[in-house]
Amino acid sequence: MLTTLRAQRERVTVTMLDPWYNKGIGGERPDYHDWLAEVIAAAARISDHVFVWGFPEIVARQLDRLPPTHPLQAWLTWYFKNCPSVIRGWRSAQNACLHLARPDARLYPEHFLNDAQREKQRQGKLRYLPGPPSVIEAALIIGFIGRREQQGHPSQKPEKAIEPLLEMTTVPDDTVLDPMCGSGTTGAVCQRLGRRALLCDMDEKYVQMTERRLGVTRTGR
Ligand SMILES: C[S@@+](CC[C@H](N)C(=O)[O-])C[C@H]1O[C@@H](n2cnc3c(N)ncnc32)[C@H](O)[C@@H]1O
Repeated sequence: MLTTLRAQRERVTVTMLDPWYNKGIGGERPDYHDWLAEVIAAAARISDHVFVWGFPEIVARQLDRLPPTHPLQAWLTWYFKNCPSVIRGWRSAQNACLHLARPDARLYPEHFLNDAQREKQRQGKLRYLPGPPSVIEAALIIGFIGRREQQGHPSQKPEKAIEPLLEMTTVPDDTVLDPMCGSGTTGAVCQRLGRRALLCDMDEKYVQMTERRLGVTRTGR
């Protein structure tokens, strides 16, 4: 998909990369780090912003090989308290997300202002623009938590974890690409925020899951 979009000279504002993590569900591949670096480079060629999700110790391996056109803007952390791990030792409570962007890519911290701050801004009295925190707290969708969102994908992200990334980087009608969309969470957030979304997944059952969730049908096979 990334190659096709480039060949067609299509550009997107954001590419969301949430692949399997080379650990746990989805298994491991010996060339994972090289493969991911190639995917990131391909995404960077067509996007202003690229987000890369994964376990911290795994995405950290990309930091020395980021595309020079898209330096690191922020290391984001998704923090959740409700992982029911039974392993002895530290209980997993975070995922990482690298925010990469072209130096001239737009950011919209003003989308996070509350009413009082917006009023101050209108009056020219807001001395600085307070950005949102780089740690995003959102419960894992599991058991009774997030029942209404649950689609049955084994690694579904909560919409609350994706929404701030799109609020920070897009305005209505911007296009967001998620080439490994899983249950379609990026698409669901785009629908709510009025952004366009291009979605695909290599697994037929997740494409069908996304179609059901968003009430859309694919454009091709
Ligand atoms: C971590 S899940 C994504 C979850 C998704 N963000 C959500 O909230 O539902 C990873 C997805 O990437 C898909 N995937 C992995 N490698 C892929 C590839 N090379 N091309 C397309 N999809 C891929 C898998 O089928 C899986 O659904």
